Amino acid sequence: MNIVFIGPPGSGKGTQAKRLADSNHVPHISTGDILREAVRNTTELGKQAEPIMASGGLVPDDLMIGIIHERLQQADAASGFILDGFPRTVVQAEKLEKVLVGNGHGDLQVLHFLVPDEIIVRRIVSRRSCPSCNAIYHLENAPSKVEGVCDRCGSALVARTDDTEEAVRKRLDAFRKQTLPVVDFYRQKQSLKDVDGNGPVDQVFERIEKSLS
Ligand code: AP5
Repeated sequence: MNIVFIGPPGSGKGTQAKRLADSNHVPHISTGDILREAVRNTTELGKQAEPIMASGGLVPDDLMIGIIHERLQQADAASGFILDGFPRTVVQAEKLEKVLVGNGHGDLQVLHFLVPDEIIVRRIVSRRSCPSCNAIYHLENAPSKVEGVCDRCGSALVARTDDTEEAVRKRLDAFRKQTLPVVDFYRQKQSLKDVDGNGPVDQVFERIEKSLS
């Protein structure tokens, strides 16, 4: 199970990747989560990434490729993984192919999530995230049991700094300019399937399972 989730911000990649990873016992590798942890720990990577992420831009390819190269060599990824947020540029996609061949991983299955922009903005401005365990909530669609507190680990929930309407518009722009060419890259290789990401979480999950089977 070597799976890549591609989609615009707020299309539900993280929500669905966590669920699919849990049910298939493979790691959910989210480059956004890795970068946010680096920012929290004020590592060199975090210091470089923080202003770029806050503005809705993309972190340089060489940094991202290094992160994924190292992560995919870890033992838990040997029998499969779900990549969420990588690759986001054609350079990253090409490099990923080389890394997978080098590691002896099998072929990729790529799912591309489609969600209209107005729904994306509504999802993102009301998202709340757990900075400790990365659980994802939404004030109306997926609220925590106790307002502002993570159901899983009890930490205080936060709104991400890039979850403003202004940053979301920039992230959507970055997706169109830099990541849609990645969708074409995989479509040409016939390893990509489109998934309608609009609708209740359970229904989208069923579509994902059907696409993969
Ligand atoms: P990243 O964290 O990857 O952000 P993203 O791709 O913009 O995606 P999001 O996390 O915003 O959304 P999602 O699709 O996971 O949706 P979610 O499930 O949370 O990256 C952040 C930044 O890091 C980038 O902007 C960039 O700067 C940098 N970065 C990361 N990777 C990089 C790379 N490879 N190269 C360069 N830079 C990189 O859902 C959203 C909300 O909707 C939640 O509230 C959820 O509860 C709700 N929701 C989910 N599904 C449904 C549904 N079906 N119905 C109703 N509500 C739903």
